[in-house]
Amino acid sequence: MWIAYGLLGVSAAALLWAAFIFGHGLVLALQGRRLDRQRHSTTPQPWRVVARKDHGACIQLWLHACRGRWRWWRGNIRGGQYLTLQVALPSGPQSRRYSLAALPHWSWRHLAWLHELAIKREPLGQVSTWLHDHAHSGTVMWVLPPAGHFTWPKTLQGEQVLVAGGIGITPMRALTQEWLSRGCPVPLTLVWSVRNMSEWMDYRSQLEAWAARHERLRFIPIFTGHDEAWRGLKGRLTGTRLLALSQSGRPAGVWMCASSTMMDSLRTQLRQAGVSDADIHFEAFTAPPNSDTATYLLHWADRPVPLRFDGQPSLLAALLEQGIAIDHDCRNGSCARCLVRVLEGSVRQVLSPEARQPEGWVLSCCVVPCTALRLAGAARGP
Ligand code: FES
Repeated sequence: MWIAYGLLGVSAAALLWAAFIFGHGLVLALQGRRLDRQRHSTTPQPWRVVARKDHGACIQLWLHACRGRWRWWRGNIRGGQYLTLQVALPSGPQSRRYSLAALPHWSWRHLAWLHELAIKREPLGQVSTWLHDHAHSGTVMWVLPPAGHFTWPKTLQGEQVLVAGGIGITPMRALTQEWLSRGCPVPLTLVWSVRNMSEWMDYRSQLEAWAARHERLRFIPIFTGHDEAWRGLKGRLTGTRLLALSQSGRPAGVWMCASSTMMDSLRTQLRQAGVSDADIHFEAFTAPPNSDTATYLLHWADRPVPLRFDGQPSLLAALLEQGIAIDHDCRNGSCARCLVRVLEGSVRQVLSPEARQPEGWVLSCCVVPCTALRLAGAARGP
């Protein structure tokens, strides 16, 4: 640089230097924008597990993207978002969404943003079983970048209540972290109900420490299993109990991530207690049980005999049950493989999909019919 000063004079060299900084900034900004756009694509990237911690039925994993520009890209990743992991099982590839358990944190050791997941081994869950058995430090998996809409709105008003059932704590922990980083703008109550002590992992003591430090945060762990040593709250969480546990008795927002049975009963009870649907937010990774008992006819392509929808959780489930070979994978709106074309009739969205649906097409794993339907087109989509 001093040589440039000598040869060109101070002002020309300063100009060159400014142009270099500006050009560099522009390249980084453009690359960030490109990555932001790619983040919504359905092209998976290789990610490496760099650490793992076991807690009986649950494991914590820390991983980062392997490719340079992705590992250095922090992006606008929000509390409440998830990663979609794709794993090759002997029965074929499968993908599953797992909520991020924390906001990304920079690791100098790995020169990358690390992302944390906590995964419970589900007795019938092929992907969670595979992850428990095979995901160790060094394992590389194919992952779709963070996505999801279960995030805080721009402005928060009134008390917010987070309800986690078991491993449903993961998005709640990240949402709490983001609330802390925003300076605790409103009172926050986090209620966490678990049946198995191993589900506490390290998170319970950490959340207790956060609540001790921040006056506006109330953390209420509830244990629903059997353990004489447990001195805290016990028993089932109901809508009325939840309102009584909140700081104001009438929260402005209730956010839930738990089993679909727990979320369904809480939603019904909260509605009965006067909480409006608009104030209840929930994260569901597969379609919840369908409470609509009506039956609808489904006219599929050139099949002469109509099929029936009989209260299955999704249109996809109904079509598969009746022998229609629809391509599918994730069952939660991220892989975009279960597209079907709706020629007549209307559907109701039961999951909000990540993948885009072209005009006239629906992701059959995310909808149920509200009328008889005439469906057509290749199940592989346009
Ligand atoms: S099965 Fe993946 S989007 Fe429907």
